[in-house]
Amino acid sequence: MNVHDSEKIAGILEGMGYASCDSVENADIIVFNTCCIRETAEQKIYGHIGAVKNLKRKNPNLIAVVCGCMSQQEGVADKIKESYPYVDIVLGTANLNMLEQAIVSARKKKKYYNVDFMQYREEDFNQSRTSYPNAWVNINYGCNNFCTYCIVPYVRGREHSRPMQDILREVRQLLDDGYEEITLLGQNVNSYGHDLQEGETFAKLLHEIGKLEGKFRLRFMTSHPKDLSQDVIDAIAQHTNICDNIHLPVQSGSNEILRKMNRRYTREDYFALVDKIRSKLPSVGITTDIMVGFPEETEQDFEDTLDLVRRVKYSSAFCFVYSRRKGTPAYSMENQVPYAVKKERITRLLACQNEVTKEISQTMVGNCYEVLVEGANFRYQNTMCGRTESGRLVNFKCDDSYIGKFVTVLIERASSATLWGKIVKSED
Ligand code: 5AD
Ligand code: SF4
Repeated sequence: MNVHDSEKIAGILEGMGYASCDSVENADIIVFNTCCIRETAEQKIYGHIGAVKNLKRKNPNLIAVVCGCMSQQEGVADKIKESYPYVDIVLGTANLNMLEQAIVSARKKKKYYNVDFMQYREEDFNQSRTSYPNAWVNINYGCNNFCTYCIVPYVRGREHSRPMQDILREVRQLLDDGYEEITLLGQNVNSYGHDLQEGETFAKLLHEIGKLEGKFRLRFMTSHPKDLSQDVIDAIAQHTNICDNIHLPVQSGSNEILRKMNRRYTREDYFALVDKIRSKLPSVGITTDIMVGFPEETEQDFEDTLDLVRRVKYSSAFCFVYSRRKGTPAYSMENQVPYAVKKERITRLLACQNEVTKEISQTMVGNCYEVLVEGANFRYQNTMCGRTESGRLVNFKCDDSYIGKFVTVLIERASSATLWGKIVKSED
């Protein structure tokens, strides 16, 4: 979501005639697109903003912009105004379209602070695309779920679906422009359409895109387990261009912790959902987000998470240490878990998922998979990488003329998370 927001920021600036440069010393505008989901990201950004003071001494015409979800947090815009007066523009997550106007005003030395929730339309400005052959497409914004640890509903506002016709128009244009992979984005894609007309659901959107002509892949993220419907699973099964790959954050394997997190499912519900998905999509890759160290998490709760990870067999997992966010209910919960315990648990969780990934990787060796070539793996010479339909990253030797092509790769070896193979067939 944040990467795509940065593409929008870049698009607006390019539309005004700016071009990107590779050093802050040479910049006329510096934009900080911030994230506040965890504390570490937030701390880093204040350090970077502080460094603007010196840069401005050297270049008084430099324009500094802070946007993204951090600026939307209560009190942050005022804090920036007071403690970082050299920041010219503060914008929120929903009013990026004001950036052009804000820069025009900053050029006249007039500051612009606006963090109102006034959801822009994607069509209101140009977007720069940086992830060919993939293109990101927003389908809904904000979140109504209020998981007790999460700041997102406060900084991205209430759920709001984009009109289906607008999404379809954007997707058709991207396919005409040559993108081979579309990734639909929303905090909770499965609740797409709740605020639209009857029948405008996420499953319907998948069918409409799945029906489009031409060879391309469709992915989406993120799915909340409580809202993933049978209709969506059926749509994935019906259309070959919708990838058998579901990002299904579980967060914890303990019922007690899930309840305290306000996730509104139990581990049994989750297992039943995974069974339902796998019975319809046998080669599906399921990925997840997991958190350790939520307040009051006991050793037994954590063991339940490890047990769930072993049983579900995720193809990969983003594992996080719980970070206390001011303004969320979990912030004031008693019995916060000490950092040393969190650290020990994350190490064990990562090791556990590593074992699972290794096991899955071994079963892939000797088989062929269709891969969309995404780009170079710069750590190795003449090596490109791409993903299988299920979302696993594969490395193979070829030159960059293959980027954007579908190839068939024979997996030759696996080193835990990384798969290595060779191209055995390529389109044209
Ligand atoms: N601390 C740690 N991780 C968090 N996430 C959301 N809020 C927090 C927090 N306070 C994680 C969740 C979510 C992912 C995007 O970030 O796992 O799924
Ligand atoms: Fe945060 Fe929960 Fe909404 Fe995801 S569903 S954005 S974790 S509140």
